[in-house]
Amino acid sequence: MSDSLENPQAKRLRFPPPRGFASHANADATLYAQASTDRLAFWAQQARDLLSWHKPFTRTLDWSQAPVAKWFDDGEINIAYNCLDRHVETGAGDRVAIHWEGEPGDSREITYAELTADVKKAANVLAGLGVGAGDRVAVYLPMIPEAVVTMLAIARLGAVHSVVFGGFSADSLRSRIDDAEAKVVVTADGGWRKGKVFALKPTVDAAIEEDGGAASVTNVLVVRRGENEVAWKEGRDIWWHDAMAAAETEHVAQGFPAEQPLFILYTSGTTGTPKGILHTSGGYLTQAAYTHKNVFDIKPETDVYWCTADVGWITGHTYVVYGPLANGATQLMFEGTPDAPHPGRWWELIEKYKVSILYTAPTAIRSFMKLGTAIPEKYDLSSIRLLGSVGEPINPAAWIWYRDVIGGGKAPIVDTWWQTETGAIMVSPLPGVTTLKPGSAQTPLPGIQIDILDDDGNHLEQGDAGLLVITEPWPSMLRGIWGNEERYKSAYWEKFGDKYFAGDGARIDDDGDLWLLGRVDDVMNVSGHRLSTAEIESALVSNNIVAEAAVVGAADETTGQAVVAFVILKSEFANDIEPADASATLRKHVADHIGAIARPAKIYIVAELPKTRSGKIMRRLLRDVAEGRPIGDTTTLTDPAVLSIIDAQVH
Ligand code: WTA
Repeated sequence: MSDSLENPQAKRLRFPPPRGFASHANADATLYAQASTDRLAFWAQQARDLLSWHKPFTRTLDWSQAPVAKWFDDGEINIAYNCLDRHVETGAGDRVAIHWEGEPGDSREITYAELTADVKKAANVLAGLGVGAGDRVAVYLPMIPEAVVTMLAIARLGAVHSVVFGGFSADSLRSRIDDAEAKVVVTADGGWRKGKVFALKPTVDAAIEEDGGAASVTNVLVVRRGENEVAWKEGRDIWWHDAMAAAETEHVAQGFPAEQPLFILYTSGTTGTPKGILHTSGGYLTQAAYTHKNVFDIKPETDVYWCTADVGWITGHTYVVYGPLANGATQLMFEGTPDAPHPGRWWELIEKYKVSILYTAPTAIRSFMKLGTAIPEKYDLSSIRLLGSVGEPINPAAWIWYRDVIGGGKAPIVDTWWQTETGAIMVSPLPGVTTLKPGSAQTPLPGIQIDILDDDGNHLEQGDAGLLVITEPWPSMLRGIWGNEERYKSAYWEKFGDKYFAGDGARIDDDGDLWLLGRVDDVMNVSGHRLSTAEIESALVSNNIVAEAAVVGAADETTGQAVVAFVILKSEFANDIEPADASATLRKHVADHIGAIARPAKIYIVAELPKTRSGKIMRRLLRDVAEGRPIGDTTTLTDPAVLSIIDAQVH
């Protein structure tokens, strides 16, 4: 983060819980004591208190096949029943589950009873298409209620969803469909974004028809949302509304083993191929519900909760779908972007729905900060009582702005550290308990154990920066990488043997609070989204004009990091294509290949790349160039002069 956004005083400020908050908070300090007395008994208690089991479990953790954990594995549970039917059965059927606001301003209000009824019908529709326990279904939808209905209907059948973010390209969608061998794809004609319809169905058509066709897909279920023209393949494509109108209304939720796979979610790693992170049922839902209850202090009868994440990311899975619905909460779901049709849209929505808990990403907060306080000040944000942050470290200046301008100068902020792999929040303050420290994610939640190690696995003293590891298994941990057990072991467990290596650098201060220092691998973090340097490099070199490419994440004031690429063109093209044209072509190529989120902010066409004698590209030095810093130690380079040439070309 650049100094201009930083306020050195902010780091030293401390905020005890506001008066009155602690006495009503869901969490209290005894949780830490309970968990440290007997960690497994603590988790078993959470699983029993927060969830309804079809068959009670007697075993809490089986770690005998480490690093693949089994939690509560002789128990049986239905995930959708826990998110829906049981709330209706206990009298909360009329409670609003989702206040949905479409991008053009249309809205829907869906109660728990209505959501339950829709999910039952959708489960019958999917079952009618041959989807049964263990089958995979790909979901490629905008932020509309049908996304939630679809995910829960799949879960209800004991099937496995693979949600693919709507911004991913046909190629990315296809590789995910193939990897999981999805039987059915659920999509929409299109969705709304920034005042326009963006088409989704044509991308699905391209994904499943190209290269001989996706062998596993038998049907495509299509929600009508954008009302854009779409091609139709009889026998394969089915309108959602037709199928739902014809569906049986009753569907009895059956119990499935606690370790039944629930979803696969692809995320970027250090290689060119995304990893299909696998999560299962009982442990995942336990930690989703536990964290949602205690970190967000949710009061289902009175709060209106809003997590701004798309369901295509893990935050949308755990804190739009599973956590809030398992707890019977009322939430806002929004289809659009923060700035359309005007830059006060989020604040207008908070006023309209009296949102009391807001969970978003630092990148969004920093872009609002840039626009100034006048816009949020036009709206009544007095309903806000708690704020959350996720995706990257929140710099203290943004933290203070968030609390002062959005939180009325009093709302506690929970800075939550976790990952697609961890499934749910791992490190965060507990509101009403923790004295807050801007910029620090603070302490592991009760039941979670972490450590900071040096590269050789030695425990580091407080104050020293090292590598963040999780030392004990946790209920919502990933159970593997879909179809690739070896990669699961090598990516997370090889480095330290029995400890989970998260890929983040961190330090613990003298009070025992954790400060995250960013990724230590080749994973970038752009607007809180994970991107792999290797994946973008391989997309670049797949273009015929490219000889070599190196990608780095360069610091960016708003997005945290920005994708910057250095590209060498093949000699036959180098003289004929203007660098600006090559750069524009390649930016589009990456967007077509992976998706718009991966489009490099800048591409520099260069004659050479800095390499060590063993041929390794020195990305660290390219980052110096991209960030306009004096270039670091170049003594290991074959030809140190290369860098000054690149630097001169860039600046
Ligand atoms: C980063 C998102 C600092 C971190 C839930 C992690 C954070 C990666 C924080 C996971 C935070 C997430 N402070 N860094 N509060 N939250 N990160 O899988 O580098 O999309 O490894 O999961 O985001 O990103 P993912």
